[in-house]
Formats: sequence, structure tokens, C-alpha cells
Amino acid sequence: MMVCEYKPGLEGIPAAESSISNVDGQKGILEYRGIRIEELAEKSTFLETAYLLIWGQLPTSEELKEFEHEVRHHRRIKYRIRDMMKCFPESGHPMDALQASAAALGLFYSRRDLHNPVYIRDAVVRLLATIPTMVAAFQLMRKGNDPVRPCDDLDYSANFLYMLSEKEPDPLASRIFDVCLILHAEHTMNASTFSARVTASTLTDPYAVVASAVGTLGGPLHGGANEEVIQMLEEIGSVAKVRPYLEDCLQRKAKIMGFGHRVYKVKDPRATILQDLAQQLFAKFGSDKYYDIAVEMERVVEEKLGHKGIYPNVDFYSGLVYAKLGIPTDLFTPIFAIARVAGWLAHWKEQLAENRIFRPTQVYNGQHEIAYTAIEER
Ligand code: COA
Repeated sequence: MMVCEYKPGLEGIPAAESSISNVDGQKGILEYRGIRIEELAEKSTFLETAYLLIWGQLPTSEELKEFEHEVRHHRRIKYRIRDMMKCFPESGHPMDALQASAAALGLFYSRRDLHNPVYIRDAVVRLLATIPTMVAAFQLMRKGNDPVRPCDDLDYSANFLYMLSEKEPDPLASRIFDVCLILHAEHTMNASTFSARVTASTLTDPYAVVASAVGTLGGPLHGGANEEVIQMLEEIGSVAKVRPYLEDCLQRKAKIMGFGHRVYKVKDPRATILQDLAQQLFAKFGSDKYYDIAVEMERVVEEKLGHKGIYPNVDFYSGLVYAKLGIPTDLFTPIFAIARVAGWLAHWKEQLAENRIFRPTQVYNGQHEIAYTAIEER
């Protein structure tokens, strides 16, 4: 067998052949199935984009109507899932609640007919439809309230915002939220997608695939960064304190949350779109000091770290948008998961089409031939 050089984090090593998305990190380009993210953000909807990612081409209007109809009518979660969620500690992180609930779906739909297109369609629809309901349900239940039933009259994003607040959301807020979902739906071989593909390669069920990806997304170096961005903006507190705060971080060699990317060496194109959405929201609903702090941070970080290719990533402005929509900080990552489920399912399907179980090797750097020491002699 060919022996390759060990690369921590598998940096630069292809883990799959994929036609789902593409990133050009030098030029700041992101494409889903060949279509630029800017075009999808302007013209598409999240469910249409999910269809594109999962089935490889844009749906016809008939196909889209049918898909939207199926998703709309599968939004309710089983009362036994709700009862299970009621037992979760209210102090627990919503990502942990989501991971457990997504895995629990596999208990109810345990058939594994992985090569049957009807089974695949069912699982895709069920996961896309119920993940937002589970996120909203936990949010209400941890505050001691009953979950809000999904509203069949509202589209995907408006319904999610409605389930969180029991109020019909403003159309601009719903559209902006929907664009956020488009922007987070897929991003090549990131950690959670890799995790999804590894799990898929064992031929387990799609609920286990999504649950393992949700667990991977939760860490602060991946999806969890946007929560930390808001905490950081709160800690900084004013535009005047940005420079001293950043200088202190750099001196301590601390990572600045929401900046830097393994692939992008220019500004993440999703950050540019999100910044524009944040501006639209602030124009309609009133300005916010955190936005001014964020803009100043971007300026100072570029001055200090631009030469290393450190620019804002998707998490930098997404937190600001969600906070302005009134979404609690610890729901930011579950919302990332709502979107990324589309990408994970596309990768699940692609992995199954040409499956080989992942089984990498390792470089053993431990000892050999060590004698067992009796416990009283240690
Ligand atoms: N703040 C300050 N310096 C940073 C930085 C950040 N956010 N991200 C990278 N750097 C610096 C590193 O210190 C390193 O400097 P050095 O060469 O002088 O040691 C250099 O840039 C390369 O960084 P490295 O950690 O090797 O990059 P990576 O590709 O392994 O890491 C991330 C990518 C995303 C993990 C990293 O940028 C990070 O931790 N960012 C903050 C968390 C975040 O926003 N995550 C969301 C990603 S979408």
C-alpha cells in the first residue's frame, strides 16, 4: 500500500469525489451544483436550493410544488418525541437536544431501504420538515411552554420563525432568514459533512447520519463560532474598544471568532451577502451598536491579519442577523443545522451511490513490547 505523509486535520487531502458544491478559496467563489451562491441567494428559496443540492438539478415548478407540499405536510413531530424532549434538562444546549432528537427519529423509522428512491425521498422530506420543528419545540419547552404547532399556511422559513414566537413574521425577516438558510446549506468537505459521509459509509440510517453531523457541527471551531461572535461583540461593548481588544487577542495568540477559514483566503462570499442582509435589517428595524463594532473589527482585523488571508467568515455576520431577528444566541448553531441538513443529505445520497466504508490508517507513534505492570507495583 502507498504510504502517504500524515497531515493533521487531513488538510488538502481529498476525502471524496463530489459534484455537490465547489469553493475557490483564492477567488472567494462558492457554487452549489455549479450555480454561484450570489445567484441562489438572490433568486432561489431554501427548499428549492435543498432540492438542487440533493437531486442535482433545479426542480421544475411542478416538482418544486410537490416537494414543498410534502415538506409542509410532514412538519409535525410525534408526540412521543415531544415527550422525550420534555425530559431534557432546560439548561442543556439546544444542539445536544437536536442531536438526541434527530437520532430518536431513527427509532420510529428504523427500516433501512437505502437503495430505494422512495425511502430516500421520505427520509429527506422528514428530516428537512421536522428538524426546524424540533429546534423550535425545545426552545419553547425549555421555557416551560408548550410547543407551537407548525402553520400550514406559512412557507418553510416563515413557519420556523412563527413556531419560535407564535407571531406571523415580517416578510422581509422571513426572506432574510430563508437566504441565511441558503447560504449555510452546503460547503464542500467541512468537518460535519465529513462526519456525515463517514457515518453514511457504514450504511446506517439517515437519522444517524444527521445526528452524527449535528454533533460535529456543535463545536466552536465549526458551527459554534457565531455564538461566540455575539459574546465577543458584547464583551467589546463599543467601537472605541475594538482595537485594544484585538491587539490583546493577537498578543495572547487567541483566535478571533468569525475570522479565518481553512479554504477561503479572501472574504467569504457568504459573509459579504450576510453583511448586506444585516444592513437591510438594520435599515428596516433600527440600527444596532453591535453592527458598528463588527464593521470596525473587520477593518482592524484586515489591517492586522489580512496578509495571512484572515478575513470574516460566514459566522461573523450571521450572528448579527439572527440576533436582530430576535433569535436567542444558543439557537444560532441549531439554525445552521436546519440549513446544513440539505448538504448532509446530498452527501449521504452521493456517498451511497458509490459507497466504500471509510477506513483510514494512522501513524502509530506509541511504544512496543511493554511488559504489564502489576497494579501494586505502579
Ligand atoms: N484569529 C487570529 N488568527 C488567526 C485566526 C483567527 N480567527 N484564524 C487563523 N489565524 C492565524 C493562525 O494563528 C495562524 O497564524 P500563524 O501562521 O502565525 O501561526 C494562521 O492564521 C493560520 O491559522 P490556522 O489555525 O492554521 O488555520 P486553520 O485553517 O487551521 O483554521 C479556522 C481555520 C477556521 C479553524 C481558524 O481560522 C479559526 O479558529 N477561526 C476562528 C473560529 C471560526 O470563526 N470558525 C468558523 C469557521 S467557518
